[in-house]
Amino acid sequence: MKGVISSTLAQPDIFTMTRQILVTSALPYANGSIHLGHLVEYVQTDTWVRAMRLAGHQVYYVCADDAHGTPIMLKAREEGISPEALIERVGEEHRRDFEDFHIAFNHYHSTHSEENRHFSEHIYRSLRTGGHIDQRTISQAWDPIEGLFLPDRFIRGTCPRCKALDQYGDNCESCGATYEPTDLIDAVSALSGTPPETRESVHFFVKLSHFEPMLSEWTGSGRLQSEVTNKLQEWFTTGLMDWDISRDAPYFGFEIPDQPGKYFYVWLDAPIGYMASFKHLCDRDGLDFDAFWDRDSKAELYHFIGKDILYFHTLFWPAMLSAGGFRTPSAVYAHGFLTVNGQKMSKSRGTFITARAYLNHFDPDYLRYYFVAKLNSRVEDIDLNLEDFVQRVNSDLVGKLVNIASRCAGFIEKTFDSRLGPRLDNPELYDRFASYGKTVTERYESREFSRAVREIMALADEANQYINDRQPWVLAREGGRAEELHAICSQGINLFRVLASYLAPALPALTDRIERFLKTTISRPGDWERLVEPLLDHDISPFETLLKRIETQAIDAMTNDTNQPATDADQPAPAPDHEPFEDEITIDDFSKIDLRVARVVHAQQVEGADKLLQLTLDLGGTERNVFAGIKSAYEPDALIGRLVIVVANLAPRKMRFGVSQGMVLAAGPGGTDIWLLSPDTGATPGTRVR
Ligand code: 2FM
Ligand code: ZN
Repeated sequence: MKGVISSTLAQPDIFTMTRQILVTSALPYANGSIHLGHLVEYVQTDTWVRAMRLAGHQVYYVCADDAHGTPIMLKAREEGISPEALIERVGEEHRRDFEDFHIAFNHYHSTHSEENRHFSEHIYRSLRTGGHIDQRTISQAWDPIEGLFLPDRFIRGTCPRCKALDQYGDNCESCGATYEPTDLIDAVSALSGTPPETRESVHFFVKLSHFEPMLSEWTGSGRLQSEVTNKLQEWFTTGLMDWDISRDAPYFGFEIPDQPGKYFYVWLDAPIGYMASFKHLCDRDGLDFDAFWDRDSKAELYHFIGKDILYFHTLFWPAMLSAGGFRTPSAVYAHGFLTVNGQKMSKSRGTFITARAYLNHFDPDYLRYYFVAKLNSRVEDIDLNLEDFVQRVNSDLVGKLVNIASRCAGFIEKTFDSRLGPRLDNPELYDRFASYGKTVTERYESREFSRAVREIMALADEANQYINDRQPWVLAREGGRAEELHAICSQGINLFRVLASYLAPALPALTDRIERFLKTTISRPGDWERLVEPLLDHDISPFETLLKRIETQAIDAMTNDTNQPATDADQPAPAPDHEPFEDEITIDDFSKIDLRVARVVHAQQVEGADKLLQLTLDLGGTERNVFAGIKSAYEPDALIGRLVIVVANLAPRKMRFGVSQGMVLAAGPGGTDIWLLSPDTGATPGTRVR
């Protein structure tokens, strides 16, 4: 591979017109599992990439985990592990899911990488030097218990318009109102349940309006779907707002150069992750990074994304690239959302289906086919109707496509020693099938997948009709016309080869099996062109089942699975070696408990309480108010300065005497025999106890 890209680009071969293409899918967040909603995009992109490679182009496909931001930091905190450990674990899970769905990235990276830090700092510095960054003091909600600024999504309260309870800090799911978190009535932090305070801090803003001329030129040059262009027009009309790219500590991300305690907002370094992943690939395989990213690059760059992240990809991202001195994307392709049985995916209905839950029951190609059969180039939502899924896969793939081969293969194997004959029975029919190759290439490139599938299935109907008409089983029974039988069955296998090759980008695993059966490739660069020549005088393998029908019960089994609370995705739960205790908890339940060392800084009696003392605890930087039922065993003064162990992530509880923000651990039969659990002296408040 070394040097291939640079030399090809330096002297483009206009005769073969091999295009150099870099493709990305959106980066999934590293705090949750891949689910079928995600897979719409990966299947769409992977199919496109495979089709473009089959058509002979040089295509690189990269992706990465989107590893930064508050939710990831909090999830790690909740699990009592470091964010690094969390993103490592989730990254491995994601890679396994993608591999098992045959999503063939050239490289899968993480935004928490040195390459990404490098490019993020470079782009930030370029924005700064270009005078595109403003500094302003803003007021934000602060959670005094958790000790962090709260993103809008982590504030809940009553909608100021319709008074619906328990709404997010940025918009109401009940009446659709959008507002500032400060407008919410009785707002509380979704993390600690306490009312947020308002704190000021300095933030950095990108002056997006500086890029308006560049953006309106870029967006207006046919790179975007028409629906997207219309949406952009609205955004231009409302005016491009400054973009807040900084977040205050504590935050999991990259610290901004020379700005201690300030971090890049996750959405600044997320798309830069595309470059970082590709850079890693270039360093690994000796490719020329600049040939793809220089301002005057001749290579093509495509981003496949969901419709919800258009603003980031069509405004912020081209602006950042332009400021950093890089090329802008050739196009951004947005798709719609996935519904299951006509509704938003839902855990309680068993339709929130993770990639792993699906894979535990089905061949990945079934879903790939179903999505491809429904996807087009527009920003439309697609529905996975589970009954239709079974019906469609069984009828198209098993009943039509594979059926062509299974109806002819037996004769070739038994009567002709597994060898295709020297001629076809109907060369004109074959030529018509082969001549569709040009059209199928265009359909894939323009992302009109559903149309391609419709046309391929119409050809499959014709092929089956041809076999019905020629009735090879009658010839075989009657005997005597062996040459004709050979030509008919060779025709059937050849028609099958053509159609299977057209569907190869969508069905990688089935394609592998078909290639073994046909003893030839149908999915490699140039194979579509080679279809003009039929396979004649060629040995094939004995026919084995290429694809099983889907059993409807498997759908129930999968939805039953997804109804259960998730266990470790692909490990069956080990058999218990003891009678389960009543109310037994698992090690996973236990590991959710965040035990910390704390120092008692103040202790006092609680008026009117028989058993409680009120303690102020220092958890290493944050203070907590905790009521503890230890009055019978301790004098308040004796406790001051003492180290104890507390459950630090217990949700705050409102008690008669005030809010208790944790629980002090103690053991003993009661009365004066209550022993506080104290760590060895010398432990630092805030230290986690394991
Ligand atoms: O919306 C999301 O799931 C983001 N993690 C997508 C990031 S795409 C790119 F910009 F990194
Ligand atoms: Zn409302």
